[in-house]
Amino acid sequence: VTVYRKDYQPYPYDIPEVALAFDLAPDATEVRCAMQVRRKPDAGADAALVLDGEELELVSVAVDGAALPAERYRLSERRLELLGLPASATVEIVSRCKPSANSTLMGLYVSGGNFFTQCEAEGFRRITWFADRPDVMSRYRVTLRALPDYPVLLSNGNLVASRQLPDGRNEVEWEDPFPKPCYLFALVAGKLTHRETTVKTASGRDVLLQVYSDPGSETKTEWALDSLVRALRWDENRFGLELDLDRFMVVAVHDFNMGAMENKGLNIFNAAYVLADADTATDANYEGIESVIGHEYFHNWTGNRVTCRDWFQLSLKEGLTVLRDQEFSADMMADGMEAAAAASARAVKRIDDVVALRAAQFPEDAGPMAHPIRPESYQEIGNFYTATVYEKGAEVIRMQHTLLGEAGFRAGMDEYFRRHDGQAVTCDDFVAAMESVYVRQHPGRDLSVFRRWYRQAGTPRVTVKLDHDAAARRCTVTLTQACPPVGVEKKAGADYVKAPFHIPFAIGLLDRQGRALPLRHEGNTTETALLELTEQSQQWVFEDIAERPVPSLLRDFSAPVIVEYGWTNEELALLSAHDGNPFARWEAGQEFATRQILALAEARQAGRTLQADPAFIDTWRALLTDPALDAAYRARALALPSEKTLAERMRQVDPPALAVARDFLRAELGRQLAAEFRQAFEANQTPGEYSPAPVPAGRRALKNLALSHLMAAGETDAQRLAEQLYGQAGNMTDSMAALSALINFGQGEFPQQALAAFYDKWRDNPLVVDKWFALQASARSTTVQTARELMQHPAFTLRNPNRARALIFQFCLNNARGMHHPDGSGYAFWAEQVLALDALNPEIAARLARALDNWSRFVPALRAPMQAALQRVRAHEGLSRNVQEIVSKALEFA
Ligand code: ARG
Ligand code: ZN
Repeated sequence: VTVYRKDYQPYPYDIPEVALAFDLAPDATEVRCAMQVRRKPDAGADAALVLDGEELELVSVAVDGAALPAERYRLSERRLELLGLPASATVEIVSRCKPSANSTLMGLYVSGGNFFTQCEAEGFRRITWFADRPDVMSRYRVTLRALPDYPVLLSNGNLVASRQLPDGRNEVEWEDPFPKPCYLFALVAGKLTHRETTVKTASGRDVLLQVYSDPGSETKTEWALDSLVRALRWDENRFGLELDLDRFMVVAVHDFNMGAMENKGLNIFNAAYVLADADTATDANYEGIESVIGHEYFHNWTGNRVTCRDWFQLSLKEGLTVLRDQEFSADMMADGMEAAAAASARAVKRIDDVVALRAAQFPEDAGPMAHPIRPESYQEIGNFYTATVYEKGAEVIRMQHTLLGEAGFRAGMDEYFRRHDGQAVTCDDFVAAMESVYVRQHPGRDLSVFRRWYRQAGTPRVTVKLDHDAAARRCTVTLTQACPPVGVEKKAGADYVKAPFHIPFAIGLLDRQGRALPLRHEGNTTETALLELTEQSQQWVFEDIAERPVPSLLRDFSAPVIVEYGWTNEELALLSAHDGNPFARWEAGQEFATRQILALAEARQAGRTLQADPAFIDTWRALLTDPALDAAYRARALALPSEKTLAERMRQVDPPALAVARDFLRAELGRQLAAEFRQAFEANQTPGEYSPAPVPAGRRALKNLALSHLMAAGETDAQRLAEQLYGQAGNMTDSMAALSALINFGQGEFPQQALAAFYDKWRDNPLVVDKWFALQASARSTTVQTARELMQHPAFTLRNPNRARALIFQFCLNNARGMHHPDGSGYAFWAEQVLALDALNPEIAARLARALDNWSRFVPALRAPMQAALQRVRAHEGLSRNVQEIVSKALEFA
């Protein structure tokens, strides 16, 4: 069944109060749900109270204290309808569920012997019958009862009572003062340790911050708690938003479908985004923890205080909260630096975010699952926690920030909270608040064209034409946009017309010496002009420009679009050496590298010998040795574009050819720039105590990039460097970098011995064992056969999502040679694993199912076996709704 956005109907009842009581036991937990219900004045007197429920056993139903006779309710597989209710009543439902058998990790489940919940989007209905939709908001009082084996008993809000029962069990009561939708409900019960601190909020209230984790892991929660304090301060300073609770808890769990969940006052996290110390976590892990801690904390206002009316509005909270976490991380990275260093640090963060967007969201927006950031329909909402809703959603918010400026955006946010605090609202409501500021700033303009970002899918292409009139010293820039229908939009037929987008397009012009030209634009003189493209094609004229300039386009990635402009390689080299906008400077080098690799892949396909362009090598040498560039930036500037990004540029995708081309260029750079890479390796050591701060992390990134080039080139002594680094590494970043270089490019016995020793050393730390699996799953020599052997390892299980991601997802998504072997064995493996996972955890299975989304754009030799594998999965009986939606769309809308 497909659900449509246009079919939204308000719920006919209010449920202002909910009292939940849990008798917790792994094999049978009893839940008593007492709710006050009030029919809305405009609802019909005969309106049934329709409640959702899944995999629950009904024990009893009572209304106002009396058992409800059978003819007054209807029970079906997924709903319970109560009929003939008075306008106001107390409804009490008792039900039972079985947490120990819940492998979906939605609703109430057991992990490591403890109880946890995950309710977003539709998991609460697996706990009790309820109006499981975000526009029904209630105040919750929660009672938890459990044996003393579960000493820690947590739920949302404040702890109001705690006692021991005559039967020896413990009982606690929690009360959350803020009305919330049921998707923000949470409970945790079990043996946990914690770390805590008290801080004063901006208004002077003391609040208790706690991070809970498995006993023994208390040494690994310092970074998470510190990050939480920083997030709290940042939201006060940048947005004027204060923590509204007396107590805020974060709990780590090892079995979790996603990154984390913003349950009111009781965030539940994948342990991978909480636990860290120098020995076991990489720089990237530290950064990820800070960012996800920030993300969930920021949801307290953008998501919880103001929530979504329905799930089509998911980007209302996710796009906005991703924008906020990106800005938080950027501010933390630039913290305490002088202006130029801070600008570079911010550019590094922007580059990382754009790389992720291009690798994950651009392909999604060009494939069968393409959807607007606010989808028009879905079959399973769990399939719409996507890069589009999250990351493109954040870009759409960022464009509003760009159009309004920092102060204007802040004014718009203030207005949003003034209008909607305590409500469940829509994306339109958000844009309307921003527009109220925009129209004041820009009389005569509005955001009506901008709103199309919310209802049209696809990545627009902006073609740039630059005309120079030497006699008139005038430069004319013409921007033209196009975005043909994608995915489900194609089904609407030829009469479906997409309208132009409102695209803020930042541009600079450089002279032939690489100097910035001053631009007259909207009454100012500037180095960066923000062109607002709102029609299919528009022109801008810049005066007093003597010679034909080199354009620096889409500075800071001012819009989620693809730029088409025919730079010469010489112009790209010039931009790469001189562009004053660090993002656009990086982009120029990436474009140059992309052309190189695509040309090499073509040569490979045609059976020609591969050769790198000396001008490209010179460009890379210049970046590598530019003393004005910090290490973190150089590590990004010198990183070759990912295979995912490159694939988007191929008419017919051929992953093995791309992998060979990219490897060739990596090795060739290592060979031709051996001395420079060697020098970078030596100059960027980070002796002394480990710190995850951006400067030492940047050094490690550059040093380890250098090592990978030297190893790939088979440079004499490179392996000695790698072995040495592996032996002496004082942190996991270096250990992993050395091990990865050795596994992928090393020779002799050492690599395999190191791998075995690594496992023995870390076998008791699941997060490190995940790294061990992931490294092998994505290694160049790993085949389907190797992947199958790894699945036989005693530490492997499909039931733990992190472990499945480490091995199966890494192989299927990140191992071009193994997965896309021409014999189709990778696709058969994929089909098998999708089905095996689907029997346990449909949400995770559906994510893996997406690995074949873009099958129709592959070379014919791969396309056919991919299609066959998709068909095989679709034909499987008893497929979940989740996987069904993905594979049928892949086959239908490709
Ligand atoms: N709201 C969470 C976050 O972005 C994600 C929850 C997704 N849950 C799910 N079952 N897909 O922080
Ligand atoms: Zn979120």
